[in-house]
Amino acid sequence: MTDDVSLAPTEEVMDFAELRIRFDERVLRPRPWTTAQSAWGAELVQHGPRGPVLELCTGAGQIGLLTVARAPRPLLAVDLDPVACDFARRNAADAGLAEPVEVRQGAIDAVLRPDEAFALVQADPPWVRRTETSRFPEDPLLAIDGGDDGLALARTCAATAAAHLVDGGSLLIQLGTPEQAEVLDAALDAGSGLDLVEVREFERGVVAHFLRTR
Ligand SMILES: C[S@@+](CC[C@H](N)C(=O)[O-])C[C@H]1O[C@@H](n2cnc3c(N)ncnc32)[C@H](O)[C@@H]1O
Repeated sequence: MTDDVSLAPTEEVMDFAELRIRFDERVLRPRPWTTAQSAWGAELVQHGPRGPVLELCTGAGQIGLLTVARAPRPLLAVDLDPVACDFARRNAADAGLAEPVEVRQGAIDAVLRPDEAFALVQADPPWVRRTETSRFPEDPLLAIDGGDDGLALARTCAATAAAHLVDGGSLLIQLGTPEQAEVLDAALDAGSGLDLVEVREFERGVVAHFLRTR
């Protein structure tokens, strides 16, 4: 007999507003407050340009799925982690949405074709500074490690949104603090076409709205 006590991951199911979302400890546990990011995204879709929705860093998929459950559009959800992608596909199937959902596994800046264009980009990148990730031992490192200043992946999300949003389209990006939103805005080059229009603060993070204006 060996003392091998390695355990299979335990799957959980959570209500995320009107959706039922499956996940386990290999992916980020869905944060209930982020239903507000979905609700905001659905409003922007309803009053914005035509086109599909893109979610970058989808994890188990719940933020993008709830967005298009409330404002039906085709959804492309992207994550580097194959386990997250499997959950996102299963959660999409369970949601029974009116429009198609594609889950694409790979890096944010490597999986889109140049001609793909979106009305809304939802982005939930890791935003914890690398030196502070040990404060969150229950979270997978890939899901929270935002590099030296916490914004490494956020910058990639913003550059991707700038390249793939239609005119009048919106990027909603989740960050840790309003200051991070200001730093991200300042880092965008003038030709990006993205303008920071609003930052909303929630219990464990902020959501920043960038509008594509040209
Ligand atoms: C903060 S979690 C967000 C997950 C989910 N959207 C949520 O709110 O629960 C960040 C996600 O980004 C993914 N990720 C990290 N680096 C990535 C990259 N270079 N390209 C695509 N996804 C990445 C992680 O696997 C993780 O699922």
